[in-house]
Amino acid sequence: MNATMSLEKIKHHPVMLDQVLSIISPQHGGTFIDCTFGGGGYSQAILKFPETKVLAIDRDEITQKNADLLKKKFPKRFNFFQEKFSNLDKVAHQQLNPKAVIFDLGLSSFQLADENRGFSFESKNFLNMEMGLNEYSAYDVINTLDKGHLAKIIKILGEEKDGKIIANRIHKYRSTKPIKTSKELASIINEVKRKKKNNKKNLATKTFQAIRIFVNRELTELISGLIKAATILSNGGILIVVSFHSLEDQIVKNFFNLYSNLKKNPSRYLPLLENKSSLFRFALKKPITPDAYEIHKNIRSRSAKLRYAIRNNNSFFNSEEFKNKFVNYYKLEEGRI
Ligand SMILES: C[S@@+](CC[C@H](N)C(=O)[O-])C[C@H]1O[C@@H](n2cnc3c(N)ncnc32)[C@H](O)[C@@H]1O
Repeated sequence: MNATMSLEKIKHHPVMLDQVLSIISPQHGGTFIDCTFGGGGYSQAILKFPETKVLAIDRDEITQKNADLLKKKFPKRFNFFQEKFSNLDKVAHQQLNPKAVIFDLGLSSFQLADENRGFSFESKNFLNMEMGLNEYSAYDVINTLDKGHLAKIIKILGEEKDGKIIANRIHKYRSTKPIKTSKELASIINEVKRKKKNNKKNLATKTFQAIRIFVNRELTELISGLIKAATILSNGGILIVVSFHSLEDQIVKNFFNLYSNLKKNPSRYLPLLENKSSLFRFALKKPITPDAYEIHKNIRSRSAKLRYAIRNNNSFFNSEEFKNKFVNYYKLEEGRI
């Protein structure tokens, strides 16, 4: 399937759309920033309310087509930029006074379905895994990255205990011929790992997650994106993140914990204490998850977690604690190939 076909025939179901809308209340108008436009599900739902404006971004050029359609429909209320959300400050600023900045992380159904991208185990096309605006592909990583670094990536970014064994096997294979497709990579990994009886998951799932995260620098993108969003939001603005795996959720949870008073409040029955070392006056303690009906309708939503927080009046400051917590991700994702 090529990219154009996927855009026309595949439908992306926006995850937890009702919950997002009830948190941001677009019926009262305002400007909203959609950092992960994808199929435009969130943006479109917001623009249905006449007093709203949406600034949307996405790193993937295939989203431009849907964005152009929306721009035609709402020329004065919608703007789109093909950009990474770590560069949010290049296209948005505090004077916009956004009511909410929204992240819906991971891949869209278009990206997953597009065989040219190589995100699926069955893809016989070029081992790509690029979301857009990348410096290198999965092919470069798998065929040239130092064996030790590859092992670390698979272990940490894939949470795969067999990272070293898998990296060794990849290294051995590529010294005879390059690994060209996702299908080839998946079969090398499946040979290394022995299937346990009731395990329905493809044994390459964790390694694929790791390579995808590395190729797109997804964790450091998220950390920078959260920081930029918190800088752009002013008092009362809402930061919402929908994440799909535990590494992402840990970052979001820690960001909200460290920059709110959640950890420091003596009792959950008392109102949150305000002090200078916080950015949020409210942060949800437990994530919101999709209900059984949504999971039944859209299986992709099953691992989604929604967290949000409301910005206070304090100016943004760099939390060394937050940076230090995730310094390893910077070291890992910045590894040269
Ligand atoms: C799950 S989809 C979003 C779907 C969208 N909410 C909808 O309802 O159609 C995630 C999108 O985020 C984009 N994306 C992921 N990481 C990004 C980043 N660092 N910067 C900009 N866009 C990113 C992907 O290209 C993808 O299109």
